Amino acid sequence: MSPFPVIAIDGPTASGKGTVASLVAEKLGFHYLDSGALYRLVALASEKRGIDVKNGHELGLLVPKLLISFKNSQVLLDGEDVTEAIRTENIGLRASTLAVHPELRSALVCLQRSFCQSPGLVADGRDMASIIFPDAVLKVFLTATAAARAERRYKQLIAKGISAKLSDLLQDLQERDVRDSSRGTAPLLIADGAKVLETSDLSIDQAVKTVLDWYQSEIL
Ligand code: CDP
Repeated sequence: MSPFPVIAIDGPTASGKGTVASLVAEKLGFHYLDSGALYRLVALASEKRGIDVKNGHELGLLVPKLLISFKNSQVLLDGEDVTEAIRTENIGLRASTLAVHPELRSALVCLQRSFCQSPGLVADGRDMASIIFPDAVLKVFLTATAAARAERRYKQLIAKGISAKLSDLLQDLQERDVRDSSRGTAPLLIADGAKVLETSDLSIDQAVKTVLDWYQSEIL
């Protein structure tokens, strides 16, 4: 049982769930968990240590050895600022490859639940509603068409001065969708009781407002 209210926001890659979830958390004064960042941190740390992405056992053992902290918008790994380093497409792909291992997923459960602190938490990922916080007050499945998501990712990268090709991004995210949805452990799915939010034609503000309205009606 989560001690404080949780809003779980799941969805496919580049659906905008990170942006929406962090803004909802800010509006409510809640904590925010970007669970994908944890998978990305394991991807980076395991790459540095030369651990094979197929070695679920070693990846699971690695988790308790990592010193992870989130400070404002900075992500630190063993004291090093890795905020940018975990955001590359390469690390995203590696994260989605190693996220299939049950040993790694279970090693991350307690860490994820420890983010649930007063006065509440907004958590985003793939299995927030189904596995990590099944008793979440509100469960949202945020999605958009693959074309809309590829375009958003493209704009994000270009704005950061990183060159990108729209067709490659579309192909990468479709591959990641298939892997995230078809894996045996904690696949990306619409959890029981989740509300689906299709954001292809919504602005960020509209998506945030919808989630806040849904939350208000749940706690009335
Ligand atoms: O930015 P994007 O949505 O592509 O990815 P992310 O949320 O940062 O997560 C990176 C990868 O970690 C995803 O492709 C998933 O395979 C995996 N992941 C997961 O399996 N479960 C979670 N709760 C969060 C992320």
